[in-house]
Formats: sequence, structure tokens, C-alpha cells
Amino acid sequence: MNKEAGLFLIVIGLSIALSFKQIKSIFIRLVGSSSPTKVTEEKKSLRYGSDEPLPEPTPLMITPEQVENYDDRPWRPFRWPYHQTMSIFKLDINHWLDMDKYYIHYIEEKERIRHKYGKQNYDWLPEGYDACFELMEMVTDHMVKRYPLLFTVLKNGEYKNDGDGKIIRNEITKEVLDMTLPLKDHPLIYVSKLAKEDFYIVLKNPTDGLHYLVAAAVPFPGGSFDISQKIGTHIDTIHADVPYYKTNLKKSMERWFGRMKPNEPVERASWYITWDAKLKVSNVYQVPEFKPNLEEDLKKFDPKNFNVRVERQTLRRLPKTQAIIFTNHPVFYSLDEMKDEPMVPSLIKKILYEGPEDILKYKNFGLVRDHLSGYLDELIIRQKALGLITDETPLKTQPTYPFAYWVKTDFDYVNGWNNPSADYKKSERKTDVFKDIPLADNE
Ligand code: HEM
Repeated sequence: MNKEAGLFLIVIGLSIALSFKQIKSIFIRLVGSSSPTKVTEEKKSLRYGSDEPLPEPTPLMITPEQVENYDDRPWRPFRWPYHQTMSIFKLDINHWLDMDKYYIHYIEEKERIRHKYGKQNYDWLPEGYDACFELMEMVTDHMVKRYPLLFTVLKNGEYKNDGDGKIIRNEITKEVLDMTLPLKDHPLIYVSKLAKEDFYIVLKNPTDGLHYLVAAAVPFPGGSFDISQKIGTHIDTIHADVPYYKTNLKKSMERWFGRMKPNEPVERASWYITWDAKLKVSNVYQVPEFKPNLEEDLKKFDPKNFNVRVERQTLRRLPKTQAIIFTNHPVFYSLDEMKDEPMVPSLIKKILYEGPEDILKYKNFGLVRDHLSGYLDELIIRQKALGLITDETPLKTQPTYPFAYWVKTDFDYVNGWNNPSADYKKSERKTDVFKDIPLADNE
């Protein structure tokens, strides 16, 4: 091929690539955030990343009775090939603080854990106070606008002088939250009584340019750490034990934190497997000091009832204090309820045995995998017999990642997402099964 022809082909190639990108950006804007959009610097749509404020959340008119039957979006964050990456998606602000049938249980557990464990799970430094206050205002505003029948406004004052401020009734817990000045509690306590998420408040220190954890309400860390080890430290220290942090995450996270605007919220999800649905310490992260014979214990549990514990996370920046708010909340999915979702058992089995070595260790997959492998093999054979997959189906991340294939089809406004599996019982809460099992001293 001569030089001119080569150049011509490159120009044609580039213009096709460019128009594909433009079409995609228009498409993202049209369909909005309902389709999970992988966020990389070059893929920002027009409104996203500008200085426009975020749109108000859309009201979801469910009643406290309906919440008891409401399931949230079905997360399936299983990727293959599996590399440690940021894996963040643009967040539809309606899903910042999600609602589901576990809400009441989580709020009650938060209170129990706060009173019992104090600073192990709830702590704040004085320099984070203004950010916590701004967060309290934002969470209140969000809950009232997104769930008008679940959070009602008894007093709607501006925060100016003593006696001013808001009074809200949480119609699910029936608690009245008096947030008038002077506040009777720390702002994070009100936040924690409104939303079922764990909250981390991160501020940039202008002196060294590093991002520090200045306040946290984290009753559900799952057991691999507690907040007293993290408060007052910066992001690198917080992630010191995270596999491949230095090589795969550190740089992109720093760049992201530096640029992220208040109208650029994102979400992500990670996961591991455990045989319980406890919130403060998962069995898989228990230590022998508190629960000896872990291996014996797990063998008593039927593999089909093992749960994938998804840690669903969001990140957003507050406009006034510029604090970064990181939220996390666990959601449990049993292996049984995902059994007829194409490739899910195959992906889990593959990751449990062939995922990156340090991730396998960090998630303690070695402890559970041999107990689950026979059952996962049965499910894979079953999927083939049902024609859901074949020997030729490629084992890779599914097109609806990070959600189940039915995320867009099995939804209604009263019940939320409806798992189509005949064996899924919507009225059951996984946490109820563990109610009668005594907790270890650390939970
Ligand atoms: C884009 C931003 C972030 C990314 C990509 C990220 C990524 C990760 C990853 C990969 C892990 C290991 C667990 C997993 O598989 O998910 C982790 C753990 C953790 N992250 Fe982040 N993270 C981010 C932001 C934050 C922020 C802002 C905080 C707030 C302080 C935070 C706090 C934590 C904590 C406390 C852990 C547990 C660490 C441990 O096991 O000791 N992360 N993060």
C-alpha cells in the first residue's frame, strides 16, 4: 500500500471512530443513567462534568407498608477477566440512597451497633464538622424528595439561628428527627437514622494535597477492618491492604478525586461470599478468637444458601465544603436465587479458583470455595440442560453487568425489582434466618 492510501485509511478510520463516540455520547444523554455507563475520562456526556447542579430526585411514591416488599436493583458485579480496576459507573441520583425491604433492619442494627461499639464504628474529627452538617442537609433533602411518603416534613426552616432548621418524621421507624439548631446530636447520627448506608467523609488537606477520612458512620464494615483503624488517615493508608492498590488503583483514584465535580456522582460494587447475612462482621472475616472452628461451622450450611455479599458503593462531592462522600451498603444474594441466570454460576466458580491471587486471599475465597464447588458444578450442568448456556458460551462479563439480565424487564413501581426465579421468595429477608443464631462477642 502506498503512503497516501495508508494516510487516507487512517483518516477514514479516525472519523468513523469519532462519529461513533459522538453517537454514543448522544445515546448516553438520551437514555440517561438507567444504563450503567462506565466512566472514563474520555466518555463523559455533556451535562455530566459541567457546572450545572444535579437534577432533583424523582419522587418514588411508595408507602411504609410497600417498603416491606420492595427489592432494590439486582447487582451481579461478576467480571471475567477479573482485574483490579476502579470500575465506577455514572450514578443516577435517584439511586444515591436506595430503599428496600431491609431498610428497617439496617436502621435498627445501626442503632444497636452504635450504642454497643461506639468509636469502633462511628467517629469524627472536629475539622469534618461542617462537611457532616452539609451532608445532613443533603441527605434530609434527598430522602424527603425521593421518598415523600416515607419521610415527612414537620418543620421546614432554614439553618440560621437557634430554633431554625428541619424536623422530619421517619414514617418507617416512626422516629421524629429534630434537626433544629442547636443540634442535640452530631449531624452524622441524623444521617445514620435516615439512610441505610455507611458513610465516609473525606477532605483534602491543603497542606499535603492528600485526601483524609475526617468522619465516618460505618456500622457494617463486614469484619475486615473497623473504623478506629482508618479515621484520620489518608486514602493510601486506608487502602494499604487492598490488593493491587498501588499498581492498579492509586493513580487513577487520585486523578479522579482531583477532578470530580459535585454533579458527577458515581457508583461501584465489590463482592465476596459468606454463609451468613450479618452486617458488622461477616463469618468469612471472623477471627478464631471470637469464633473458633470456622471451617466446621461453614460446612453445616447448605451451599445453596451461601450469600454473595455485594458492597454497593457511591461517591459524590458536596458543593459547599467540597468533601467527598463515600457510601457503602451490603446487599445479599443467595447462590440459589441466581442459579438460572446465564453464566452466573460459571463466573463465580471461575473467579473463586482462578481470580488474581491476592484478591482470592483478601476475600478469603480459599475458605469457602471447596465447599461450594460441587454445587456450582451442578448449577452449571443444570444451565446447560435447560439450554441457558452451552459448552460454547463464552465465559466472560455479561452484557448487563453490573446487574442481573432481568434488571430492565422485571420492575414495577410498587414492588421494585422482581426476581423471576420460581424459587425466589420475595417476602423473605435473608437477615431473618440469622436472628436466632447467637452473635460472637465481636458479633
Ligand atoms: C474510586 C474510588 C475508590 C475505589 C476504586 C476504591 C476501591 C477499593 C477496593 C478495590 C477495595 C477492596 C475491596 C473491594 O474489592 O472493593 C477498597 C476497600 C476499601 N475502601 Fe475503597 N475505593 C475507593 C474510594 C474509597 C473512599 C473514598 C473511601 C473512604 C475512606 C474508601 C474506603 C475503603 C475502605 C475502608 C476499604 C476497606 C479496606 C480494608 O480492607 O482494610 N474507598 N476500596
